Amino acid sequence: MAQNHPSFGNMADDRVIIFDTTLRDGEQSPGFSMNLEEKLRMAESLAELGADVLEAGFPIASPGDFDSVRSIAQRFSKDGPVICGLARSADADILRAAEAIKPAGRGRIHTFISTSELHMRVKLRMSNEEVLAAVTRSVTLARNHTDDVEWSAEDGSRTDLDFLCRCVEAAIKAGATTINIPDTVGYALPEDMTRIFTMVRERVPGADGVIFSTHNHNDLGLAVANTIAAIRAGARQVECTINGIGERAGNAALEEVAMALRTRGNAISRTTNIQTPNILRTSRLLATITGFDVQPNKAIVGRNAFAHESGIHQDGVLKDASTYEIMTPESVGWTTNSLVLGKHSGRAAFRDKLKALGYELGDNALNDAFRRFKDLADRKKVVYDEDVSALVDDEVVRQND
Ligand code: KIV
Ligand code: ZN
Repeated sequence: MAQNHPSFGNMADDRVIIFDTTLRDGEQSPGFSMNLEEKLRMAESLAELGADVLEAGFPIASPGDFDSVRSIAQRFSKDGPVICGLARSADADILRAAEAIKPAGRGRIHTFISTSELHMRVKLRMSNEEVLAAVTRSVTLARNHTDDVEWSAEDGSRTDLDFLCRCVEAAIKAGATTINIPDTVGYALPEDMTRIFTMVRERVPGADGVIFSTHNHNDLGLAVANTIAAIRAGARQVECTINGIGERAGNAALEEVAMALRTRGNAISRTTNIQTPNILRTSRLLATITGFDVQPNKAIVGRNAFAHESGIHQDGVLKDASTYEIMTPESVGWTTNSLVLGKHSGRAAFRDKLKALGYELGDNALNDAFRRFKDLADRKKVVYDEDVSALVDDEVVRQND
């Protein structure tokens, strides 16, 4: 475990740093760009949520991105989150990032370069030795501007392990305090993460003096699983976004990682500073700002995450919610779970709904109403409270006729 990290000091062994990149990688999702005012609102909300590091943007990308990072940096003192600006390995990128984060109480420069054979040959057209020299040069320059420097091996999960170790060693020697090994294209399997993190941490001199970070894309739907595997193999920083937004299929979802660690604490033994009851509110704010809602079945924050429709599940939940809920809705910001009435619902949920709506029916009336409800549910996808009221009111009229 890294001792005396410039921003986090001596961290407890079980602590995982949450590095939120909603405002940088997340904003790279097509159609998700945010203006300055929206980014500031998101940053406030992320700070209240308890994110430790906010990657606020890519300052050289545009004047707007620079202004956003700088304004967010101005907004937070030493007690707030670390404010991070992204930079490629070019001097101009690093100087621009340094300028943008300067007002922050705690600021970080995050510099990266590709290390996979494919990216170096096709994209960078640089040799191994040139990339190694760029790692040393970029980290050294960044360290002239802040003590808190993160270095990332872009396409790290598809990089030859020997070369990856040489790059990580160069970055540590030049003064990087966080080393990030991204699965840039979402190609890795959990066992790849275990192998990569274990090997790099074992083989690279000085590895025990830095924090290892994991950054996973979701192209195969494995971003959260890979994140958990990396944590188990020694990563102490997780890079993630609200609602899992990000390039292509997105990044690991912050809310899923935080709740996996909280819910499976015994198995994983790691904690975060995330104030989980604020999760839903932050997710909703992002959806409102970007105009993109999450899918109904999205873990934790989707509208069906705590909704039960089948009779068997509803009966269980009415007896004891833990039969079908592994966390409470309140623990992530919902006020309650919901028993949705549909064709799979049972008598217990129907009776419960009637009671909540103020109806007390005798056994015969209840049976009749339930039969008519099932007929209706076959025709309608969801039966709303108003449908139930109409159905029972009609039943009462029919019985009085
Ligand atoms: O996915 C990636 O590799 C990145 C880097 C810039 C960290 O976003
Ligand atoms: Zn990324």
